Amino acid sequence: MSTSSITGDLDAWRALPALQQPDWDDPAEIRAVAAELAKQPPLVFAGECDQLRARLGEVARGESFVLQGGDCAETFEGSNADAVKNKLKTLLQMAVVLTYAASVPVVKIGRMAGQFAKPRSKPTEVRGGVELPAYRGDAVNGFDFTAGSRRNDPHRLLQAYHCSAVTLNLCRAFTKGGYADLRQVHAWNQDFVKTSPAGQRYEQLAGEIDRALSFMKACGANPDEFHGVEFYSSHEALLLEYERALTRIDHLSGQPYDVSAHFLWIGERTRQIDGAHVDFLSRIRNPIGVKLGPTTTADDALALMDKLNPEGDPGRLTFVTRMGAKKIRDALPPLIEKVTQEGSPVAWICDPMHGNTFEAPSGHKTRRFDDVLDEVAGFFEVHRSLGTHPGGIHIEFTGDDVTECVGGGHEIVEGDLHQRYETACDPRLNRGQSLDLAFMVAELYRKSA
Ligand code: PEP
Ligand code: CO
Repeated sequence: MSTSSITGDLDAWRALPALQQPDWDDPAEIRAVAAELAKQPPLVFAGECDQLRARLGEVARGESFVLQGGDCAETFEGSNADAVKNKLKTLLQMAVVLTYAASVPVVKIGRMAGQFAKPRSKPTEVRGGVELPAYRGDAVNGFDFTAGSRRNDPHRLLQAYHCSAVTLNLCRAFTKGGYADLRQVHAWNQDFVKTSPAGQRYEQLAGEIDRALSFMKACGANPDEFHGVEFYSSHEALLLEYERALTRIDHLSGQPYDVSAHFLWIGERTRQIDGAHVDFLSRIRNPIGVKLGPTTTADDALALMDKLNPEGDPGRLTFVTRMGAKKIRDALPPLIEKVTQEGSPVAWICDPMHGNTFEAPSGHKTRRFDDVLDEVAGFFEVHRSLGTHPGGIHIEFTGDDVTECVGGGHEIVEGDLHQRYETACDPRLNRGQSLDLAFMVAELYRKSA
């Protein structure tokens, strides 16, 4: 594959340690799949990625707030119109709550249309004495616990590409075709309002928005300006064969863009400074993120910043911190202090999910809504005390009424988890919990602004 002299070698990662890559049985098969992927049309365009970079630059400057979210692991089965619509609807409702109640512009980024690969803490899984390879996401193998399903199959990468295309097409249609029109704020809530406290609270806010829109119309504003919203796609850039095959040189700028999504991030397990993931993402021009867990040192953060954003371009780099509710107030300040003193502008986002996972007595992996909220509160406290900008949240949620996280307005308890536990990986907030969170985050934002 060709490389560009401007960016250096887009294949340099191949000589570096690449963690969390599946073992493919047959090298010829994965090569053939990568060649096939390289012929596919782009899912996103360089100009869109640049636009998101500019938006994230506004976040780094303290002018707006990111709402990034979706499934922990998307599935091929879940790439259907209803599931995508429910997720988008929930994201739009959360964004409206944040925009209106916190009076801040919201950059909307789905963990959608490409989130099909998962890093795992153990390479195998044991059930009832049987040991099989761990599930690595639908892009790699199947969720069912059988030897056949757990075999790594490179053809799944092509299916991941096609499901991403279908999902992104739905997202584009929903967000540009009138469904996301602000005058539809009530419609997004229709199937929800009667049964849920969060839905009722939302309905009240939607009424206020209606009145505000009527007022603006009466003042001469053009209501068509509220017709669509900007929506961006993102996923963890984990499978480097896939990301490499979907990286193209943009004709206008001559720069490489990974056209599998607008925004790509490096996970907590693959952010080694001399590793393959950091090298590859340093060479593409998309806006990118890095997850930072509680063991990150201030020097680690600074080294990542130097390598991934040497030009200090605001909006190029986002740090997504995921410390855990108990640690954030101690672990975050040293990173922010050093990066602020010695680094360049960065957007700081809080992932209040991945530091707060535990196993319930029933064996379900779960999270407490109160821990999620407490980590966000800690994030706001730390940023406000240091004079930096709490730039957004990154969450795992679904638009369906699942029972995967405990707590929230509907008070899901540990004994309820089995009722609708449907995630292919980590536990997600359901629709009511997501809306509850949006109201609470808006309040935290307003109070600390
Ligand atoms: C994830 O986002 O699903 C994930 C695995 O996160 P992290 O890399 O922060 O552990
Ligand atoms: Co997850």
